[in-house]
Amino acid sequence: MRYTAPAPVAAPVLQVEKLVKRYRDVVALDGVSLQIGAGEIFALLGPNGAGKTTLIGAVCGLVKKTSGRIHLFGTDLDVDALGPRFQVGLVPQEVNFDPFFTVTESLRIQLGYYGRLPDEARIAEVLEALDLTAKANAQTRALSGGMKRRLLIAKALVHRPKLVFLDEPTAGVDVELRRDLWTYVRQLRAQGTTVVLTTHYLEEAEELADRVGIINEGRLLLVEDKRALLQRMGKKRLVVSFERPVARLPEAFTGGSVLSEDGKGLVYTERPGHPRAAEVLHALYASGLPVQEVETRASKLEDVLIEVLHGREVAP
Ligand SMILES: Nc1ncnc2c1ncn2[C@@H]1O[C@H](COP(=O)(O)OP(=O)(O)O)[C@@H](O)[C@H]1O
Ligand SMILES: [Mg+2]
Repeated sequence: MRYTAPAPVAAPVLQVEKLVKRYRDVVALDGVSLQIGAGEIFALLGPNGAGKTTLIGAVCGLVKKTSGRIHLFGTDLDVDALGPRFQVGLVPQEVNFDPFFTVTESLRIQLGYYGRLPDEARIAEVLEALDLTAKANAQTRALSGGMKRRLLIAKALVHRPKLVFLDEPTAGVDVELRRDLWTYVRQLRAQGTTVVLTTHYLEEAEELADRVGIINEGRLLLVEDKRALLQRMGKKRLVVSFERPVARLPEAFTGGSVLSEDGKGLVYTERPGHPRAAEVLHALYASGLPVQEVETRASKLEDVLIEVLHGREVAP
């Protein structure tokens, strides 16, 4: 598969160069190079086991890299492993707090980990933002799944990190929390925070991301501006149903249109070099075919991801 070298980024807060991580015979990261720019929302996408969590772990100090270099805020982590990481927040994939502390206590402790003084005003602010104020004095083990997620996010943000990693933050959460989180991530960006997000919900990346990276088997396959990517690889599709079966399509439709087996419908997929969906639609009505209903559908990030993972990427 073709490897697209990611373009350099202005004012990178994170620079990863040829990062390799091996677990015995598993190559979790196979020479990943990537830059994350200040203030962007970057979505890292890829199937289970692709290496997303390992990459985040290597940056955050939870995974020991095999080789390669990582610069955080311009500092080489081999030179100073701790200083730059104080400015980073992580919402981990797995719940990781002590069940016997209260919500407020666990945020105080978190501030301590990051070398900050207790700051009750900041704690109150974060609790409010994540709708946890009513649970401030509850023990964390008594929280519902959704509330635990909210607390994980609060913990990752309480020390005002400049760079935040959200590793599958909405896996298994309800729609309301997902919406809240999206709003909150946008607020973070408005405040200048850089956000790196991994997610299974392509809808989430489509909604939030400025740039997208696609990783598979430890290799970055593509890094690109989300809009540019959707424009480059996205296809428009026309789904037409007929009032009665059509035996065969007029000549004009043979390129790119597919008649269903029962003759009751047609699908046209727009491709570079072929007529635009709108032109086909026009011709369709002009042809006198018994059109009943027409539906247009633009492809989503999900379609693009599948194409890239199957090596069917269209060259830029
Ligand atoms: N602690 C570990 N020991 C051995 N193999 C691991 C460990 N952590 C992750 N892996 C392997 O590394 C690969 C990447 O995993 P991971 O980074 O968790 O992927 P993702 O987050 O994209 O699902 C997988 O093959 C996984 O099984
Ligand atoms: Mg993971």
